[in-house]
Amino acid sequence: MNWKNQKRFAMTGGGHEGFLGAVYEAKKPADVAALYDKWAATYEAEMAQAGYRHPSICLALLARHLPRGDAPILDAGAGTGLIGEWLRIAGYPEVEALDISEGMLAVARLKQCYTGFHCMALGGALPFADGAYAGIVSAGVFTSGHVGPEGLDELVRICRRGGVIVLTVKGTLWDGGFSARVDAFAKAGRVMLAEVTEPYVSMPGEVATTPSRAVVLKVV
Ligand SMILES: C[S@@+](CC[C@H](N)C(=O)[O-])C[C@H]1O[C@@H](n2cnc3c(N)ncnc32)[C@H](O)[C@@H]1O
Repeated sequence: MNWKNQKRFAMTGGGHEGFLGAVYEAKKPADVAALYDKWAATYEAEMAQAGYRHPSICLALLARHLPRGDAPILDAGAGTGLIGEWLRIAGYPEVEALDISEGMLAVARLKQCYTGFHCMALGGALPFADGAYAGIVSAGVFTSGHVGPEGLDELVRICRRGGVIVLTVKGTLWDGGFSARVDAFAKAGRVMLAEVTEPYVSMPGEVATTPSRAVVLKVV
């Protein structure tokens, strides 16, 4: 982390450095988008340095629960496309990227691994048909200052029956309504909780980290 980011960290007063601290504390989706636009160029290098684990864990879980070749898949909160490249290698040929930050999507576009791009916000209504996707993956998005438990509703709606939703959820969000929302969907017969990991630290290289879980929901 360079001195400018350290200064920004000190200014945020949070437990995380640089852009990460700032996005965790963002109050409005427009602020989150603007911060990620600025972060896009250095995001992958900084996350690699922090030992960022969510994309590889999501990829492993998706490959365990969604048959090879099923399509299309939505990468919800795709960012710079860390997972998109690997999904194609792992045998999922049709993956669309959705993100609130055009700057992050611009980096993802360069990778030429996505078949569609959607610059829009999760958390409210999405312009996709019911059951439009065979699978949805969302890594590092259901977390502080990003998308709350309410963002799950539309993902369940747009995933087809028999389809799979793989996402990571920060512990504070899991206890702060996400787990209850999953239970409500399960009781209503809309999803089955196919798998949930033990809590794990998503960025071992960070100063302060709240463990997250990765969750697999099967739409029924
Ligand atoms: C920590 S990054 C994760 C990106 C990518 N999934 C990865 O694992 O590298 C979080 C991403 O969520 C996006 N994001 C934050 N709030 C969002 C929202 N309300 N709707 C859509 N994307 C959002 C950010 O722009 C950013 O690209």
